[in-house]
Parts: sequence; structure tokens; C-alpha cells
Amino acid sequence: MTTTDLPVFDAEFVRNLYERYRDLRAAGPVHQMRTVNGLPVWVITRYEDARAALADPRLRKDSSRAQELVAEKVPAAEDRGVFASELVAHMLNTDPPDHTRLRKLVVKAFTARRVEALRPRVEAITADLLDAMAEESEVDLLDALAFPLPIQVICELLGVDESRRDDFRAWTNTLLDGSDEDASRVAGFAMAEYLVELIAAKRREPADDLITALIDATEDEDRLSEQELISMVFLLLVAGHETTVNLIGNGVLALLRNPDQWAALRADPDRVADAVEEMLRFDGPVMHGTFRFTAEPVEYGGVEIPAGEMVWVGLASANHDPERFPDPERFDITRDARGHLAFGHGIHFCLGAQLARMEAQIALRGLIERFPNLRAAKSLDDVQWRYSPLIHGLRELPVHPR
Ligand code: HEM
Repeated sequence: MTTTDLPVFDAEFVRNLYERYRDLRAAGPVHQMRTVNGLPVWVITRYEDARAALADPRLRKDSSRAQELVAEKVPAAEDRGVFASELVAHMLNTDPPDHTRLRKLVVKAFTARRVEALRPRVEAITADLLDAMAEESEVDLLDALAFPLPIQVICELLGVDESRRDDFRAWTNTLLDGSDEDASRVAGFAMAEYLVELIAAKRREPADDLITALIDATEDEDRLSEQELISMVFLLLVAGHETTVNLIGNGVLALLRNPDQWAALRADPDRVADAVEEMLRFDGPVMHGTFRFTAEPVEYGGVEIPAGEMVWVGLASANHDPERFPDPERFDITRDARGHLAFGHGIHFCLGAQLARMEAQIALRGLIERFPNLRAAKSLDDVQWRYSPLIHGLRELPVHPR
């Protein structure tokens, strides 16, 4: 184990994410580090340990402890909209048995069939966005395709009114950026308020959408409470807005930086599913890691982590572990990238994985078929990353479609 005061989530770390993780992995499997707020955290860097940790019931979300810690170290944060109790009681923050119960109920509503039924809509929305791109000589790929596609899809899936979609984008951006606390609080409350109205409206007028299905979902006479419904819808909206965006953005960046890979995909667009898995492994779009707390002492990589400690499972680090993925810094759409941890693993495995994969595959295939000569409009050497501990995504990606 190495102890270091190097903060894990400062802007410098995020900018040099894979180099930092490579150095950490080489130096040892587990490191005691600090977050930017000065909180001590044990960082797990290697694939096998990360995968085991995600499936380890001794490592828990313990959301009350998480909030306590943040409030202690960052006093203003307890007051932030994003920590408003209506919004954080969702299953990503809970442990069994609560998590088991919530996940069962949402799985009843968010079925594979419901996602698959969206395919023609995803194709139609993508085609419209690509049509609009074709009119321009230069566009920001994020604005033109990567942002609007997932937003429109998640809003249609949930049944959010078209007129409120711009508000949603603004709220989720503010919440996830977290740089302006007042703005976050205002956005959090505005969003919670709107969700209360939206759910009430669906109760009055049920529709063929996911919110109505969540209202109706029952399991052994159990159903979601009002508060659980709000936080579930909140989680789905945020996850649906801010994730696939960066899968498309980071993925297209990797393709533009590796013209041989672009050519390979162009020659055989049926490789698109493999390409998306490699994009997830190579430069996963959200959460380069995820937090847990030790409920009892655990041992990883020969290092004992005492009870009550915060642990950061480095998903991006695991996905670049050469023991699991040889030559990990090479972006190669022909490699077998399955088993990557970009969607997590274990009981919290991403609920939206099927939807995210479908959207990214359709977007990418459309892009390569419509614009086989797509090229960057700016040097790709100094791209700007957004700074957020949760999101790993670009600020912009200017391209010439033709
Ligand atoms: C959980 C990644 C898209 C909904 C997770 C986790 C990861 C992840 C790593 C587990 C976190 C942990 O263990 O702490 C991603 C990536 C996406 C994506 C990389 C896109 C490329 C989506 C979408 C939705 C979604 C589109 C919904 C429409 C969720 C939910 C959970 C989750 C509800 C919590 C599951 C639980 O706690 O049981 N996601 N996600 N995700 N994701 Fe995603």
C-alpha cells in the first residue's frame, strides 16, 4: 500500500485520468488517498480486486454515512439541492434489503421489452439529428447528436412533456457540475417540484410510459412510495441525460484519434456493437469510479482496510489493467472488451445498460454511414474535459460532417 496526499478528484487528476491510474496500479493494488475535500479514501486500482469489491456485501453504499461525512467536511454541501432527501433516496444509494426491493419494482416497469420497443424511435430521432447535421459545414457533435438523442429518448420513455426538456437539461447540468452551490440548490428544488407535479399528472391521466408503469408496479402487494417514485424518476432522468452523451462523445473522439479504427468500422459497420464495448472500456463516460463504505474490515490486494472507511473502486483503472486487457491504452474495436466494468458489476449493475448500448450503437452506425469522412474541426491534442467527479466527458467536439 502507498499512502499519498494526492487528491483523487481534482481537475489535474481528471485531465490525466489514465496516466494517474496507470501509475497508481503500478505502485500497488490499493492506495490510501484523499478526495479534493480532504476526505480519506482507499482507492482500489486493479481489475480483479475492483470486480470482487463491487460484488462484496461488506462494501456498502451506506448513504447516511456518506451524507454525514460530506456534511462534516463540506458544511455547505448538506444544504445543496442534490442532497435534498427526495432526490437521494434512490436505489443507487441504498443497500439490501431496501435496494433489493426498489430494484425489483423498477425492473418490473423498466423491462427489456420496453427498451427494445424504443428502437424505431431511437432510429428516427437519430436520422432527424443527422439530417440537420448534413446542412452544416461544422457542428459541435455534442450539441448536434450526443446531447439531444439521449435526452429525447429518456423523456419519451418516462413521458416528460416536450416543453420542459430544455429545463431538464439545464437542471441536470447544474446539479452534476456542482460548482455553484446556490444554482445547484435552486435546480434541485425546481426539478423535485416539477417531478411531484408530473407524477400527480400521471396518476390522474395514466399513459403508456415508464412513470405510469412505475406507479403501477407491484410486488407482493408492495409498491413505490411517493418519495421513492420521485427519487427513482430523478435517478432515471439524470442517468438518462448525462451518460450516453459522453459514451457517444468520448467514443467518437477515440475513433477520430484512431483513423485506422474509424476505417475498420466504416468497412464493416456490423462491428458497431464491439466498437461500443471497446468505447466503454477505453474511455467510459461516467464515474471513473464508485464509492462504497466498509461495514467490517476487508482485505484487498493484501491490504487490510478497516471498518467504516470510504473506498473508491476505480472502474476506469480496472478497465485499463493490463493483466485483464493487454495493451490497455490501445483503442482497438476488434478486441474482446467484454467484462469491462464501465456499467459496474453486482447488484448495482447499470439498469440502463441495454438502453445506453442501443442508443450508442444506432448513433454511431448512423454517423459512420451518413458521414464516412467525418473529421475533427479542431486539434484533438488539447480537448477540454468537463470537471466533475461523476462525469467523464468533453466540453465540446467540433467536427466537419463531410
Ligand atoms: C448504475 C454506468 C447509462 C440508469 C450504474 C452504475 C454504473 C453506471 C457504473 C453502477 C454504479 C455503482 O455501482 O455505484 C452507466 C454508463 C451509462 C449508463 C456508463 C451509459 C453509457 C444509464 C442510463 C440509465 C441508467 C441510460 C437509465 C435510463 C442507472 C441506474 C443505476 C445505474 C438506475 C442504479 C442501479 C442500482 O443501483 O441498482 N450506471 N450508466 N444508466 N444506472 Fe447507469
